[in-house]
Formats: sequence, C-alpha cells, structure tokens
Amino acid sequence: KYLQEDELSDECKKLLLTLPKERGWLASHIYNYQGFWATPRIIQGVIACQQQFQAQDSDIILVTTPKSGTTWLKSLLFSLVNRVKHPIFEQNHPLLIKNPHDLVPFFELTLYVDGQVPDFSSFTTPRLLSTHLPFASLPKSVQDSNTKLVYLCRNPKDTFISMWHFTNNLKLDHKDINSIGKVFDLFCNGVSLYGPFWDHMLDYWKQSIENPNKVLFLMYEEIKEQPKMHLKGLAKFLECPFSIKEENCGVVDEILRMCSFKNLSNLEVNTTGKLSTGEENKVFFRRGEIGDWKNYFTTEMSEKFNYIIEQKFQGSELKF
Ligand code: A3P
Repeated sequence: KYLQEDELSDECKKLLLTLPKERGWLASHIYNYQGFWATPRIIQGVIACQQQFQAQDSDIILVTTPKSGTTWLKSLLFSLVNRVKHPIFEQNHPLLIKNPHDLVPFFELTLYVDGQVPDFSSFTTPRLLSTHLPFASLPKSVQDSNTKLVYLCRNPKDTFISMWHFTNNLKLDHKDINSIGKVFDLFCNGVSLYGPFWDHMLDYWKQSIENPNKVLFLMYEEIKEQPKMHLKGLAKFLECPFSIKEENCGVVDEILRMCSFKNLSNLEVNTTGKLSTGEENKVFFRRGEIGDWKNYFTTEMSEKFNYIIEQKFQGSELKF
C-alpha cells in the first residue's frame, strides 16, 4: 500500500540526496525538508501540495502536531461547521459512519499523497482540510488568503508517549518495535515527524498573536478542561457562532458528546473499520487522557524534558 522509496518521483529522489537524514521512528529514515522532519513519502506529498493547492478565502484548515488530538478536533470541526447540513441529532450523521480522518482529509498524507491529483468537486463550502505542516511550509495561497487556520497542540510529554505507542502500533506484525529510550533521544533532538516540536508550536503561537483573526491556537488540555467554552470560541472564530436557540436545544452538548473519546472510540466504524488510506481506525483512539506520560517517564526523562521545554519556550506564554 505504501509508496517505497524507489517509487518516488525522480524530482523527489534527487532532492532526498541533498537533505539531512536521520533514523526514522517508522520508516527507515526521515529527512529534514524546509527545517522539519518527514518521511520521503510525506515530502513528496508536501511538494505537490505546495505547488498545486489553491486556497479559497472560505477554507478552514486544521493544523496539528501529530498525536495532539487531531482526530478529536476533526470531529468537532466537522460537526460544528456542517451542523445545518448534518444536524447533530440526525440518525445517519456522517461521524457515525466514517472516521473523522475520512471526513477532513490531510493535504500531504491523503489528498496529494503518492502523486494523486485531488478532486475537490465533492467538497462543500467551506472546505474543511487538514495538515501537520509548519507555518512556513504551508502552501503560499494559504498564507496569502483569508483562509482560517485552527491550530492544535498538546503537552509535549503526552504527545511523545502517544506518538511512541502510535508508531509501534503501525509497525506491521509489531516487529522491531521501538523501545521508549530509542525514540526519546530522537524526540529531544527535534527528530520526530514534523518536528522539532518546539518550532512547530512556537511558530503558530507567534502567528496567532500577530494575526488572531487568521490563526486560533488551541491546546488539547485546555479543550479537555473546558470543552464547552472552547467549542463556542471555535464557532465564533469561524464566524458561525451558536445561537441561543441552539444552545437551549442542547446542540453544543450533543456535539461534545458525539465527539467524545468514549462515543467515537466505541462506534463500530472506529473499532473495526479502516481509513481510505489503509490504517485501522482504532489506532487513533488509545486512552485520550491528560498526563499518561507519568506512567512511562523516569525522573531523568522528565527532568531532561523540563529543561528543553524551559529553554525553548522561555519568553513565550506557553506553559506545560
Ligand atoms: P493518546 O495516545 O494519549 O490516547 P491524533 O488524533 O492527533 O492522532 O492524536 C491521537 C490522540 O488523541 C490519542 O491520545 C487518542 O487517544 C486521542 N483521542 C482520539 N480521539 C479523541 C477524542 N475524541 N477525545 C479526546 N482524545 C482523543
């Protein structure tokens, strides 16, 4: 199913020869392209989307660091933005039948992957799209248009643990799984998909301060702690606020219930189904909790992480 390195375009193969290379978590190697780390297949998708994607002012793009709750926010965004076309109380709501990743596709991992030419004709307005790309690598038309960017990140310790489990789960037959120590040093050195994680977060943080109407900066923990407030804030940011009538009818609560970890992870589509790109839907649901890192980190690991976080995020208001 997956494109092998020798199946890449000649342009991409040539480019790879010039890029810094490191041991990958999943693929044998990852490469540093435009300052972030990615697999050859992702880099090919990124180049295609940078060259071809034409943003529309009404587009809504969800940008996340991998394993920060993308699946959750895709479900929230989809049900929020499409609540007229697909009322949340509807029996056949798309979220009951499809995994959120099939409803809000990624640029580089789905739409432009493996040399595909995306067909946007079935998309309704506003188009809901997603990516893990750092701000500086977004297609130029996204940066130049009035497209709204919803950014999501998560406590880096939980992000790391989630990523470690996820990449091991994706390994076929669970062969050669990575020990935590093996990938911990890579992560701390910035070598993780779309990393360094601190650059990713800080760039979007700055953009959200400079351009608050374009970039909304969200954190997994904050949504978990105050889901209603953040969903309403998201609706306002996207210029589709909830009416008092909707609130009184329980629309906000029902969207949160529908998109909750408990509900989504138990749906048949998510326990037995597969994504159009081949991954099993269930790999996107593990525990969905804050602070699971405490079950895995040694004191030394935690101290090393705290030091990096302190150094890198000093001067910003980001606290973990
Ligand atoms: P854990 O591995 O800590 O459980 P992503 O969607 O970006 O790949 O992130 C996956 C993480 O989000 C996983 O974290 C997963 O369990 C969690 N998650 C998935 N759906 C969720 C939901 N509806 N609510 C909260 N967390 C969710």
